Amino acid sequence: MASKEAPRRCVVWFGHSGNEERALLAQAGWCTRVADAQLQDGVGARRDDIVVAMADLRQGGIDAVQSMMQVMAMHPWLPWLALVPPESAAHSTEVESILQASAEFFTMPVDMQRLIDTLTKFAVPSSAVIEEDITGIIGTYSHAMRAVVASLQKFASVDLPVLITGETGTGKEVLARTLHRLSARRERPFVAINCGALPPNLVQSELFGHERGAFTGANTRRIGHFEVATGGMVFLDEVGDLPLDAQASLLRLLQEGTLERVGSSQLIRLDVRVLAATHVDLESAVARGSFREDLYYRLNVLRLRVPALRERKDDIEVLAQHFLGAFHEQHGGRVRVFSSDALRALRDFTWPGNVRELINRVQRAAVMAESSLISAGDLDLQNLQLAADRSSLGLSRVVAEREAVLACLRESHFNISECARRLKVSRVTVYRLCKKHKVTLDELRGNGKFMGRPATAA
Ligand SMILES: Nc1ncnc2c1ncn2[C@@H]1O[C@H](COP(=O)(O)OP(=O)(O)OP(=O)(O)O)[C@@H](O)[C@H]1O
Ligand SMILES: [Mg+2]
Repeated sequence: MASKEAPRRCVVWFGHSGNEERALLAQAGWCTRVADAQLQDGVGARRDDIVVAMADLRQGGIDAVQSMMQVMAMHPWLPWLALVPPESAAHSTEVESILQASAEFFTMPVDMQRLIDTLTKFAVPSSAVIEEDITGIIGTYSHAMRAVVASLQKFASVDLPVLITGETGTGKEVLARTLHRLSARRERPFVAINCGALPPNLVQSELFGHERGAFTGANTRRIGHFEVATGGMVFLDEVGDLPLDAQASLLRLLQEGTLERVGSSQLIRLDVRVLAATHVDLESAVARGSFREDLYYRLNVLRLRVPALRERKDDIEVLAQHFLGAFHEQHGGRVRVFSSDALRALRDFTWPGNVRELINRVQRAAVMAESSLISAGDLDLQNLQLAADRSSLGLSRVVAEREAVLACLRESHFNISECARRLKVSRVTVYRLCKKHKVTLDELRGNGKFMGRPATAA
């Protein structure tokens, strides 16, 4: 029986290694894979390889240094070593950040023995690096995102619904698409549906299809989104917005694997995996009665909670660098890097709009920047923070909160204890909310309708 091949030990060398260096490394059991930082074609390691990366800055000017920064940002899980020419002892900001991101650096002439010892010390199995490449998710350096990726990889192979929760712009759809790509259904369709955007009277027909003549205007038979996704996955974004009749049909599909087109009583058997996402609290929608409890339990078998960007500060720099690189590729220009002040500002900001907002800020800064460095000022985050603080007290949120309390009070027949139980808050909180929104309970109970006025934003 053939014995399992021993893992290769491999230095992924970005730049040009000398013949003599390669020979000495080979003698010590290290193969050198020369990679081109300009091409950014991945690390090219095999799954079982033990790898370490070298940022060789001995040749090429500022462009080479900037490409190296991008490559390093793309592979944050690789252990990096750096090789710098002696004159860059008076380092530029860019070289400084490369040295900061490297485990160790070497100057000329290179002490090969120390280099070989350092390779051995920092090399890691490439499986960790390769897994990140497979998921295609940018910014998985933080503990929070590593946990998400680990769950995603487990969930990919289990044919059960997944409920993806997280604030707006955190990447729920990105993760849903990744899950599809990692699953055995990857060759079959991925159909994304924004439940909130479906015309209310057409939800059933959009999702499940209709027969000719099912309703006025149904001149032909129409196949719904679920049937289109046969064998693949349906991603129900904002699932909390599904009307109750569509919820019942979805429940039947999940329980029995069947659907009925509108205007037909024929049951159609369907193999489709359902992923659902929500940025609102489905539990309180269940408590309010606007979301079916049985459907909630069906969808919530596997749960993926996507952390807000402020909970994964370690990913911000990689993401920002990625979006800047993408901007540069599309629009050109000389802006390639962030100043250390800008990086600090990115880390300190609270990012209410999460990754989506980060993309906007980076693009804006790339347009505004006066030099090749993006400064903290170019990001203009201070004004944004003020606006975010204000909007968190904003009118729309106040109105939404008032509506939710009112709806729940009505459903609880104005019984405070019942309302508190449904909203999963204390009775005192219900009284406080009533006071805040000028909801007069006695009037409500007496008239059966509300007499107060909405509170205005501070
Ligand atoms: N890890 C990531 N890597 C690269 N791009 C990302 C990542 N996460 C999010 N994005 C980008 O951020 C934007 C928002 O992502 P997405 O639409 O998946 O968020 P969402 O959570 O579904 O938002 P919403 O709640 O508003 O529907 C998209 O442009 C997406 O490409
Ligand atoms: Mg979305």
